[in-house]
Amino acid sequence: MRVVVNPDYETLSEEAAEIIAKAVLGKPTLTLGLPTGSTPLGMYDALIRKHRSEALDFSGVRTFNLDEYAGISPDHPQSFHGYMRTRFFNLVNLLRKNIHIPDGSPDIDATVEADRYESAIIEAGGIDLLIVGIGGNGHIAFNEPGSPFDSRTRVVALAPETIQKVTKEFGSSEGIPRTAITMGIGTILDARRILLLASGAAKADMVRRAMRDRVTDAVPASALQLHSNVIAILDEAASAKL
Ligand code: GLP
Repeated sequence: MRVVVNPDYETLSEEAAEIIAKAVLGKPTLTLGLPTGSTPLGMYDALIRKHRSEALDFSGVRTFNLDEYAGISPDHPQSFHGYMRTRFFNLVNLLRKNIHIPDGSPDIDATVEADRYESAIIEAGGIDLLIVGIGGNGHIAFNEPGSPFDSRTRVVALAPETIQKVTKEFGSSEGIPRTAITMGIGTILDARRILLLASGAAKADMVRRAMRDRVTDAVPASALQLHSNVIAILDEAASAKL
């Protein structure tokens, strides 16, 4: 795994956006796997700036988000649909038809939707470049500890610590999702290239366990050690225990 350590969150975000921009310039029909969470916010801002000031063109790019809460409508402000619309999709020239996120609508069978999503990724020819963060418990996308490394897109139960984090983000104890539709670890490892982003001291232990310690399903992100084309983009705080 190649490791790039940046002095701070700003430069980490710029670095990640620069790698994506180069990939888009090299292949205007790039298929991009995208994350949510607080970590990629600066990267999305940097990509929006590149679109505005350098005319970075997303009109041929296809995107597949990693995951979405199950039982939450795409209109819900805390849905990953909502996050992506307000932080990225509405601010660049991606075409609506090229954007893919699992549909977590309560009236949709999540298992059927998960299978449909996995097939859509395959039909698109797979993911060229996938960006992923790391959860405090070592999860990638919503693959919680214990997830099989050959798992595909499916419905999963959120771990208790994940539900706690989600409860804070929802700002209320009602309507909190307990399940999600997520790309599997196998789906993620099929991406041709992966960028792992991690920022801040709170991630330092998990970054070490994922990148340097034994590969184990207790730390889902450690599966990335099995992939031959991963760049970890860290800031100094997140890399402190490597
Ligand atoms: C969520 C997402 C993950 C993300 C993780 C870390 O659980 N499903 O894809 O990596 O949060 O989030 P943050 O960047 O806020 O630490």
